[in-house]
Amino acid sequence: MQDMETLKKENMNLADKIYIFDTTLRDGEQTPGVALTVDEKIQIAQKLNNLGVDKIEVGFPASSKGEIESAKKIKQLNLDSTLVGLSRSLKSDIDAIIDADLEYVHTFIGTSPLHRDYKLKMSKSQIIDKASQSVEYAKDHGLTVEFSAEDATRTERDFLFEIFEEVVDAGADFLDVPDTVGVLTPILTHELITDIKSNFKTPVSVHFHNDFGLATANTLTAIECGANQAHVTVNGLGERTGNCSLEELVMTLKASYGIDLGLDTTRLYSLSNLVGRLTGVKMPVNKPIVGANAFAHESGIHVHGILNNASTYEPISPEMVGHSRKIVLGKHTGANALKSKLKEYHIDLNEQQFCKVFDEIKSLGDSGKCVTDDDLVAIAITELGSARETPIVIKGLSISMGASVSPTATVKLEIDGVEKETAHTGVGPVDAALNAVRELVQDTMDIELEEYNIEAVSGGTDALAEVFVITSDSQGNKSTGRSTNQDIVMASILAVLDSMNKLLLIRRA
Ligand code: KIV
Ligand code: ZN
Repeated sequence: MQDMETLKKENMNLADKIYIFDTTLRDGEQTPGVALTVDEKIQIAQKLNNLGVDKIEVGFPASSKGEIESAKKIKQLNLDSTLVGLSRSLKSDIDAIIDADLEYVHTFIGTSPLHRDYKLKMSKSQIIDKASQSVEYAKDHGLTVEFSAEDATRTERDFLFEIFEEVVDAGADFLDVPDTVGVLTPILTHELITDIKSNFKTPVSVHFHNDFGLATANTLTAIECGANQAHVTVNGLGERTGNCSLEELVMTLKASYGIDLGLDTTRLYSLSNLVGRLTGVKMPVNKPIVGANAFAHESGIHVHGILNNASTYEPISPEMVGHSRKIVLGKHTGANALKSKLKEYHIDLNEQQFCKVFDEIKSLGDSGKCVTDDDLVAIAITELGSARETPIVIKGLSISMGASVSPTATVKLEIDGVEKETAHTGVGPVDAALNAVRELVQDTMDIELEEYNIEAVSGGTDALAEVFVITSDSQGNKSTGRSTNQDIVMASILAVLDSMNKLLLIRRA
């Protein structure tokens, strides 16, 4: 990578101050299906403030009483971030901003031919009049004014510049360039923002949508060309496919250019989770920075590198954003990864046990399953347990079932070296198998199943079943048993045998 200073001088035209304008509570709330309560907006605003964003667009006060109420309540928190409200180019909308106790208005009007002809049905001069009258009205009421030319990127350049000149004359403090339907590319952004910056002294803001997945790249390009402000949302939420993602932009600036915007980035992951929980929009595992896999490693080669020096396969440390590293086990797992995982859980296996656990993880991986930490712990504990003396061992199991007949389990056990086999029915396959086990062991011991618990250790129809049982005998001895298997009948039998073997060891001690 080129030295930062050289980059700044030769390739970039960075503004002295880059403002982060967060619109999670406004454009983010326009995500289809998302509606936040006043209390939820307050929680998010507080977290955005703690992160250190410069501006928070709290909503669109003219749209509802709730929007005015939430803006007022957020204002009462006396946050450091500047609070902004959205308004159309209408005096009544600006009055709602004043009603909501806000001091900064983001006012907009459509400027592209499509918006002029099909939405507003207004001429260019009518649109210019409305925009400049609104800006003037807001300035007369002491507001800071940001003007957005909605659909700017599909607006004729001469008309865009004409309306920008008029609103600057009317007192606009920021000129915002919305890429309303996300049609920009980095090269187009470069050309547009460079042109605007060389024609206007007023600070330039960008509001880029993500229809083609380029919102972050385009916003970054705009900043490289001198844009003074970026509109962003947590998790990239927003209309349709969303806006430029706050966490992606901030971390790219920091990691790739060393630009520190003064935000406490260690709060990004928890902010993302809060917004995910309150909006119900969960991030895909591969979402940059905040997705579950952002710092997850599986392949033996990568894990080996990570364990020696995390920078080998991580561009930034998870701690920088408050996330955590995850070593995932699966078919690509190497011995180093497994050893480090077992160490994490303080599980000490001898070489033979280690090889068995390693093989089981590989074969689960080969059968298409991703092995979670819970799976590993369950497998390793089962393996540790199997190192004990086992007077009763399962040698065979078959189940037959059909419509309107009771399931029958045929079970073969080796008890103190002698093989025995029987078949039994039950209300279900597990019941049938346990009845067969009970019958086979009756000469050796009498047992009572006091508790039986089954859990899928991980999701999916091929999940591992973990069975936990408590058994007792007529002498008042009690014992627990545990087992993990992909087959729930086998997991149940193994858990009961585990428990019975412990009981036998107690009785024979
Ligand atoms: O995307 C857009 O054009 C907007 C405007 C309100 C600025 O969100
Ligand atoms: Zn938008």
